[in-house]
Amino acid sequence: MKTSLLKLLLMLTTLLHCISSSAALTVSPNRSQFFEGDSVSLSCEDEDSSAGWTLRRNTTTETRTPCDEWGEGSGSTCNMSHMVPQDSGVYWCESSQAAASQSINLTVPGGSVILQSPVLPVMEGDPLTLSCRSKHGSRLPAAFYKDGSLMGTEPGGHMTILHVSRSDEGLYRCNISSHGESPSSWISVTEPVASATRLPPPHLPLLLSAASIAGLVAVTILVLLVRRRLGGKTEGGASEDVTYSDVEMFHKQQLLRQHTEFPAKPQVVYSSVKTLSLQSNH
Ligand SMILES: *[C@@H]1O[C@H](CO)[C@@H](O)[C@H](O)[C@H]1NC(C)=O
Ligand SMILES: *[C@@H]1O[C@H](CO)[C@@H](O)[C@H](O)[C@H]1NC(C)=O
Ligand SMILES: *[C@@H]1O[C@H](CO)[C@@H](O)[C@H](O)[C@H]1NC(C)=O
Ligand SMILES: *[C@@H]1O[C@H](CO)[C@@H](O)[C@H](O)[C@H]1NC(C)=O
Ligand SMILES: *[C@@H]1O[C@H](CO)[C@@H](O)[C@H](O)[C@H]1NC(C)=O
Repeated sequence: MKTSLLKLLLMLTTLLHCISSSAALTVSPNRSQFFEGDSVSLSCEDEDSSAGWTLRRNTTTETRTPCDEWGEGSGSTCNMSHMVPQDSGVYWCESSQAAASQSINLTVPGGSVILQSPVLPVMEGDPLTLSCRSKHGSRLPAAFYKDGSLMGTEPGGHMTILHVSRSDEGLYRCNISSHGESPSSWISVTEPVASATRLPPPHLPLLLSAASIAGLVAVTILVLLVRRRLGGKTEGGASEDVTYSDVEMFHKQQLLRQHTEFPAKPQVVYSSVKTLSLQSNH
């Protein structure tokens, strides 16, 4: 009973460790759209480097391909030095135990206009700057759209929201007249909790199973405690739970050997042994 309890506790701590060792994906520069030829550095940050995080991506032609097939990597950092439209896709960190970080979308449009928007979530209350850039010229007047509706036209090609709120979350794009239109990028806004932007939300099914295992352990401990208490009462209040029954078992076998007319039953209970010893005294 004690060893299985230990095993359960061990399982529980392993599980909790798995949940807590989640990586934060960082992107430098911190944006989601890139011109052809741009460079980007991605890395998985985690206190527990032993988890062995690898950067992976899905593109239109690849699935779960690791960093060494598309970038220059050293451990959990991966650089792309000359991006091409085929690098557009979903990127994430994955541990050797298949845990995953939040994923991000990187887009490399073939066209000449990009929207510079943060690829990682923006904290509520923080400023948000959107820039519309053309390959052929800077600070051109640009129109900004959110969820398909025109927000406004900015002569300098920049738009700043001083204090971001949840309602600013959405799909953004921009347009520079006679240069073209950028692809759309999703901007997410998170609550102003220090850890919220750095750590991905914990895996809910894992949390639930951890909770149920914790419950199981608690119930097991309870059952053990109750059993111990009840067991102590039936053994006549003997506080040392092991030795008493051992001695009685030995005594019983000795008696059985002396009275061979009684067939030796392997599972004779204590009360019948008592009867035997009375008979031998008479
Ligand atoms: C990557 O592609 C695979 C196969 O289509 C899919 O199961 C997985 O969810 C994708 N990963 C992400 C982060 O989108
Ligand atoms: C990736 O890029 C970053 C920043 O440009 C640089 O500090 C780092 O050394 C590069 N790592 C590799 C493996 O090239
Ligand atoms: C990434 O792009 C896909 C397809 O455009 C979209 O469904 C998904 O929500 C995007 N994910 C993020 C984190 O922006
Ligand atoms: C990414 O950029 C946004 C907006 O500029 C900022 O709020 C966020 O903290 C940045 N994230 C990182 C990891 O630098
Ligand atoms: C892009 O903006 C220009 C004016 O700045 C406008 O004439 C044009 O229709 C816009 N294109 C799209 C696709 O919205």
